[in-house]
Amino acid sequence: MSARTPAGRNAGGRNVSRLLADFGHDLPSAPTSTAAAKEARLFRHAPRRGPRWAGAGWSPASAPVSSWRMTSDQTPVLWPFISTPGLPPTGAQMGIDMLSGGAFYADPNGWVLDDDVPVTNPNLFSFGKPGRGKSATTKAFCLRMTDFGYRILVLGDPKDEYEGLCKFFGVEPFAIGPGLPTRINPLAFGPLLAGWDQLDATEAQARAAVVFGRWLTLVRGLVGSQRIGDQRVPFGPSDEVVVKTALQKLTGYILGQTQLTETTIPQLWHLLNNPTDDLIEECRYAGERHFLDDTRLLRDALGQLVSGALAGLFDDHTTIDVDWAAPIQSLSLSRLEPLGDEAIGIALTCLNSWGRGMREMAAPGDLRVVVRDESWKQLRLGPEAVKSFDADLRLSRRDGDVQFAVAHKPSDLLSAGDTGSQAATIAKDLLHLADVKVLHGQDLGVARELESMLGLGPMAQDLVTGWAMQGKGRALWCVGEQHYKVQTVLHPVELHLTFTNQALTGAA
Ligand SMILES: Nc1ncnc2c1ncn2[C@@H]1O[C@H](COP(=O)(O)OP(=O)(O)OP(=O)(O)O)[C@@H](O)[C@H]1O
Ligand SMILES: [Mg+2]
Repeated sequence: MSARTPAGRNAGGRNVSRLLADFGHDLPSAPTSTAAAKEARLFRHAPRRGPRWAGAGWSPASAPVSSWRMTSDQTPVLWPFISTPGLPPTGAQMGIDMLSGGAFYADPNGWVLDDDVPVTNPNLFSFGKPGRGKSATTKAFCLRMTDFGYRILVLGDPKDEYEGLCKFFGVEPFAIGPGLPTRINPLAFGPLLAGWDQLDATEAQARAAVVFGRWLTLVRGLVGSQRIGDQRVPFGPSDEVVVKTALQKLTGYILGQTQLTETTIPQLWHLLNNPTDDLIEECRYAGERHFLDDTRLLRDALGQLVSGALAGLFDDHTTIDVDWAAPIQSLSLSRLEPLGDEAIGIALTCLNSWGRGMREMAAPGDLRVVVRDESWKQLRLGPEAVKSFDADLRLSRRDGDVQFAVAHKPSDLLSAGDTGSQAATIAKDLLHLADVKVLHGQDLGVARELESMLGLGPMAQDLVTGWAMQGKGRALWCVGEQHYKVQTVLHPVELHLTFTNQALTGAA
């Protein structure tokens, strides 16, 4: 705005551009900025204590903000009510998640398929002190999974405690014991033999690798479970060649037969005791004497099994016809109890291997929960038996079976060998085969191994040795890295089906 004099003249006079314009020179003028129309404000800053009028949330003092630094172990002490991310409500409803107060569902195959749940295999290992409710939780899980199309296979029931469950489904369990007619041949071919004569050479070779591999692992586990003093019988590469060649001879595979013959462990032992010339030659021994001298330990260990633990149980062709379409199948072993834990362990090794054979080539959608209760008895039989168990468990990712193994404490797996030994390493690896661990109550003495073997922090250890000890069916479910404090809730019918204190109530 220009100021004007009283005379009405421009006080500032003409400026340069005006002067030049008068003489015909137009200087370029600066563009006049057109300010953009201001947008209406969407948000307004709230004063630190809130808008100062009634009902608007004004606070007389500002909230102090303090920062804390701590480890994730210490955090739950200050924020005890923040729990692990919930699991999807699919699968068996097991009971109450005590941290969130909601229902806890177990769905191992569903968890593997769900990227939000940190598990990559559907196997479960359940640990706990005797009587804490491991078997009851296992049975409840199996029973509830049948609603989702799963069938149950109990590969050895040392206490006959799954018989109640079988009767509930109207299935008669198979009883195995001295003097009974039931025989299971752990060297059975299983479904892989079906249509063998029509297989092309590549497929036959692939199937043979699976079958002979399984048998070899079994024989190695059985021989390796025998003792010389406090050492286990070794099973070296030469023993492997001898057993494999003998098995190939007995079945007719080595002769390229299209119809293979099933063999048994006593037949294997017999052939090794009376080796044929071609067996001696194929195993590259100088003569019969050389063969017999070199395989003495192997033959004697097998012989002890044939006349001892396996006699009348696993020494002949299978005599039972298993209905795989039935909701449950169980093999009762309580009659072996007088023979001792080792005999039961050997029986479990045979049954586990046989069961694995039977589950090879399961039809798609044929889902099964495979229960291995009291598996510590097998795991105590030395590194070879642990390897055999390991091999049986590895199959599950291929066929969708959920393997449920029950033992007392994580170090059961280590009892096969000294700390730091090869056996201990195998046992630790075995723990990784099950991404889900169900930890029932344990004594304080076990707390350290919960840390060293499972990597549980002090809070989780306290739950297992404290809270879980104060009630049956209480367990810390470790689903990958996530922990859930779960109380299994049993229906009155299930309480009856899972009752295992008959002996105590009878005596009282
Ligand atoms: N969640 C539960 N609620 C009520 N009772 C339970 C629960 N879980 C287990 N029980 C009862 O506790 C008893 C012992 O349980 P179970 O046989 O399952 O123990 P276990 O840990 O398998 O013992 P063991 O190591 O000797 O085999 C059973 O009679 C069972 O009915
Ligand atoms: Mg039990």
